Amino acid sequence: MEVQATTQNPAETGADTVVVGVFEDEGVAHDLPGGTLEAVLDRGEGQRKFKRLAVTHADGRRYILIGLGDRTEFDAERARIAAGVAHDRAAELGTETLCWEVPHHVGDEIVAGLVEGTVLRAYRFDRYKPDDDGPDRRVQRLLLSAHQDVSEPVRVAAVIVAAQNRARDLGNTPSNDLSPAALADYAQQTAERLGIEATVLDEDEIRSIGMGAFAAVAQGSVQSARLIRLDYAGPGSDGAPLVALIGKAVTFDSGGISIKPSSGMQEMKFDMCGGAAVIEAVAALAELQAPARVMGLIGATENMVDGGAVKPGDIVHALDGTTIEVNNTDAEGRLVLSDCITYARREGAAKLVDIATLTGGVVVALGRAYAGLISNDDAWAAHVEEAGRDTGELVWRLPLHPDYAELVKGQFAQLTNLAARRGEASAITAAELLHHFAGDVPWAHLDIAGTAWDVGREYTGADASGFGVRLLVELARQSATE
Ligand code: BES
Ligand code: MN
Ligand code: ZN
Repeated sequence: MEVQATTQNPAETGADTVVVGVFEDEGVAHDLPGGTLEAVLDRGEGQRKFKRLAVTHADGRRYILIGLGDRTEFDAERARIAAGVAHDRAAELGTETLCWEVPHHVGDEIVAGLVEGTVLRAYRFDRYKPDDDGPDRRVQRLLLSAHQDVSEPVRVAAVIVAAQNRARDLGNTPSNDLSPAALADYAQQTAERLGIEATVLDEDEIRSIGMGAFAAVAQGSVQSARLIRLDYAGPGSDGAPLVALIGKAVTFDSGGISIKPSSGMQEMKFDMCGGAAVIEAVAALAELQAPARVMGLIGATENMVDGGAVKPGDIVHALDGTTIEVNNTDAEGRLVLSDCITYARREGAAKLVDIATLTGGVVVALGRAYAGLISNDDAWAAHVEEAGRDTGELVWRLPLHPDYAELVKGQFAQLTNLAARRGEASAITAAELLHHFAGDVPWAHLDIAGTAWDVGREYTGADASGFGVRLLVELARQSATE
């Protein structure tokens, strides 16, 4: 979708639909001559209550009046929701160019929210549905009309949310069309487009440099694994700490020999959403030329089952030499990430953040509104929480504790990937394994198993959500200017 800011009056922009938001207890800010819009509200057809809509026509244009609720409660999240709701009505009515009249006296985060809500809601994954009525039922162009110049927040939000939608495309693509090699090719093309550096290791290289935990997951698949690395250093970022963004990209998780139940297994094509978020966050940072210094690391593999697959009880050697008993081959994400964390540390990362659809346990604990955050560093965790609040990609911190760390000690090896007391605090015990490899480098782990798809918001539905792109971009920008 094309997105632009304008200081023109909405009526002069050529938009076929204008959206006007109305706060409770306030009049229509810019009514048409004769008080046409106010009159619609007075007749009781429109309402100022949050998300309520009324449609009217005047001057050859369509006006959508949408309630914004109480001004004091209106925040960026409500802006996203209102924009998503308004988009759907506009699209239903065949709108091509939509112009939002930005409410008076709101901050840049509201402007960004309107852009995000519209663009996220307009997203469709229809690549495999050529005959769908999609394209003509979609708003093509979005204008944000304001008295003040909002071109900067609009430009930044448009870049970031386009990246988020690309992450959704990756998430929604089925595993037969998104192998680890295909994901690596995509990352390389992205890097080329943006003039940043990409490095890719194939499965033989992953094994030969000693990433035995990662390689063990990969060995049961006919698709060769990839370690994907994207480096971006923005203007003026010389002194900035190197932040490693580490993403789990299991392009399909069958569970391996510890095979998953068949029901719902198709959802395990989404097990690469953490990796997709990392690729697109780095891409957005590069496109914005943000003053950040990041290393994106994506561990891409299938978790499959064949005669050569890793077996329960097998002991593998992680990149740092630690031995790990693989007591459940479905706990594969932590094996991949452990080696990626060691790799990032060796490459000089000063701060680590990993993002992964890691555990069913986090879905039980937090559902779909919050991702799990687990960290060994209060200051770094606070930054992640702040980036979450600023972007509406919320995170809730869960604890680490030596008692939990005890549960991932192995019987025959140093560690086990299947914590004792199975079923208890499984999001935390998974993180304790990662904690071992992060050591005392500031590290934050985001478990997005509940937020990566099917979040059921007004602006994202049942498909991949692209969760993490906005948060990671914000975190990287903030940590560079700290
Ligand atoms: N990819 C799954 C986690 C997952 C489950 C993500 C549901 C999204 C929705 C992960 O690899 C996994 O299988 N985790 C297991 C670990 C267990 C076997 C110790 C889990 O959490 O059940
Ligand atoms: Mn698994
Ligand atoms: Zn998995």
